[in-house]
Amino acid sequence: MIHKPVLLDEVIEMLDIKKDGIYVDATVGGGGHTRAILSRLSDKGLVIGIDRDEEALNRVGMSLKDRRLRLVHLNFSDMDRLFDVTGAKVDGVLMDLGVSMNQLKDEQRGFSFYSEAPLDMRMDRTARITASDIVNTWSKEKIERILRDYADEKRARAIATRIVQRRRKGRINTCKELADIVMSVYKRRGRIHPATRTFQALRIAVNNEVEELQEGLRSAMNILNKKGRLCVISYHSVEDRVVKIFFREAETQGLLKRINKKPITPSVRELKENPSSRSAKLRVGERL
Ligand SMILES: C[S@@+](CC[C@H](N)C(=O)[O-])C[C@H]1O[C@@H](n2cnc3c(N)ncnc32)[C@H](O)[C@@H]1O
Repeated sequence: MIHKPVLLDEVIEMLDIKKDGIYVDATVGGGGHTRAILSRLSDKGLVIGIDRDEEALNRVGMSLKDRRLRLVHLNFSDMDRLFDVTGAKVDGVLMDLGVSMNQLKDEQRGFSFYSEAPLDMRMDRTARITASDIVNTWSKEKIERILRDYADEKRARAIATRIVQRRRKGRINTCKELADIVMSVYKRRGRIHPATRTFQALRIAVNNEVEELQEGLRSAMNILNKKGRLCVISYHSVEDRVVKIFFREAETQGLLKRINKKPITPSVRELKENPSSRSAKLRVGERL
């Protein structure tokens, strides 16, 4: 189970790495980007690797022993807290958003529609709310709203209604049960499973992804040195919109210069080798 780092060459180029610099990989995941950054650093360089998923950090910690790497279990919205005491600033921050293949493919984590595992979807398994809590206790209106806001789901009302009807007969426990409910609204499936958007919306809500991203971007700006680069890879329009607006406003306020106005997307070669990179968009800013 290996997560292939997305837009790897592009991120390394855009971070414009200084060999003695300090870099934050705010989303370590499978460690692919972390490794590549470390390989560009001298003995004096440092990478601070953050993830809200402790299992991911443990796995990377076991396979990547390097004294220039510090791994921290943290939400990236709090990354500036790491520097309160030392006052140090960093030369670059990478935020590669969303979930890793390692999380998606681990059936027990509850991200997959075919899984009989409990509806969980927490990136941080110490977090409080699970997808099951949302599906089984939130009001119809609230469920409808997240389906619409976080996934542009056209059948949001019908799916929310069906969920609420179904749970009157007993709890909706597994991923597969939920996927079947969505399927019953759509009746037939195309190339993409009809539950894809519902699962995306739930994942965003469970992990509070929109607010954490807004806070994470603000937090990154607090710790960047002048000329330090902020690289953000998003995977769906909800995330990308947040990043785009943040960069634009930070530029207007004179805090950041956008390096690319149009996001960088994967090459034809990468798309062929790693089709799950297809929706990736890289935006880059330089701290002023
Ligand atoms: C797409 S993966 C990163 C993959 C990584 N760049 C690699 O090369 O393997 C995203 C990772 O970010 C983590 N993550 C998502 N939101 C986070 C947040 N708010 N704070 C910290 N980590 C987060 C997830 O747990 C996941 O491991």
